[in-house]
Amino acid sequence: MTDEQRPYGSTPSDPTLKRVRTRHFKRAKEDGIKITGLTSYDFMSASIFDEAGVDFLLVGDSAGNTVFGYDTTIPVTLDELIPLTAAVVRGANRALVIADMPFGSYENGPKQALETAMRFMKETGCQAVKLEGGRRSADQIERIVGAGIPVMGHIGFTPQSEHGLGGHIIQGRGEDADRLLADAHAVERAGAFAVVLEMVPSEIAGRCTEELSIPTISVGAGPHCDGQLMVWTDWAGFGAGRIPRFVKQYANIREVLLDATKTYRQEVESGIYPGPEHEYSE
Ligand code: KIV
Repeated sequence: MTDEQRPYGSTPSDPTLKRVRTRHFKRAKEDGIKITGLTSYDFMSASIFDEAGVDFLLVGDSAGNTVFGYDTTIPVTLDELIPLTAAVVRGANRALVIADMPFGSYENGPKQALETAMRFMKETGCQAVKLEGGRRSADQIERIVGAGIPVMGHIGFTPQSEHGLGGHIIQGRGEDADRLLADAHAVERAGAFAVVLEMVPSEIAGRCTEELSIPTISVGAGPHCDGQLMVWTDWAGFGAGRIPRFVKQYANIREVLLDATKTYRQEVESGIYPGPEHEYSE
């Protein structure tokens, strides 16, 4: 959203910054103001994204890939995500911080889901949690919300089920559209404040957006959603691998850092660094 349109009564540079809360998500949808989100896994990136006015920061289980170097998000654990989430909370003054519940931390049922959500809330200071699954996760969402913890849903392509889904496949095409809509409604009924739609055809995402009263957040679900979310390392060109079609490359940090690192190494080797201006005298 533009600074002028912000319904939160503050711009990113306003010293009286207010915290984005879940109720502002609903208001943004009602007012037709787009919501912006990025993943973040550390204090410094969180403080930059927060200063830029991004509305929410998701400490995604994509940290499994981006921070820990796993092939998928499946191995990442609650104990690994807790310190990352706490660091992002310390970097965010205004953005709503959402912790992603990792695989294995909620599938056993509502009790396990609530225990995981409570650990995130108590040990990190985050303001909401996210979990994957539509109808299959509705009981878990309801229990967590019932305890006063805001939940963001996540349907469509759900990376924790990549093997069950048969790989990185667009969800909600053809006859699957009805299943996707049923999942979206189940998440809303269970009390989620917003729902991520990942890798869904734009028309179906548009139908979800029209039918739901809670905001839809697109991760590769097109322009008709109420907000957009991207994995920041993809968007900023930090990684070396292939990035998904839906990601727009806004920067090429890897190249900048690689060039700077090569220059540093060459300057150390040739004696240019440190120069007199970097030395202390007696
Ligand atoms: O972990 C993550 O980054 C996510 C988003 C891509 C939705 O779940």
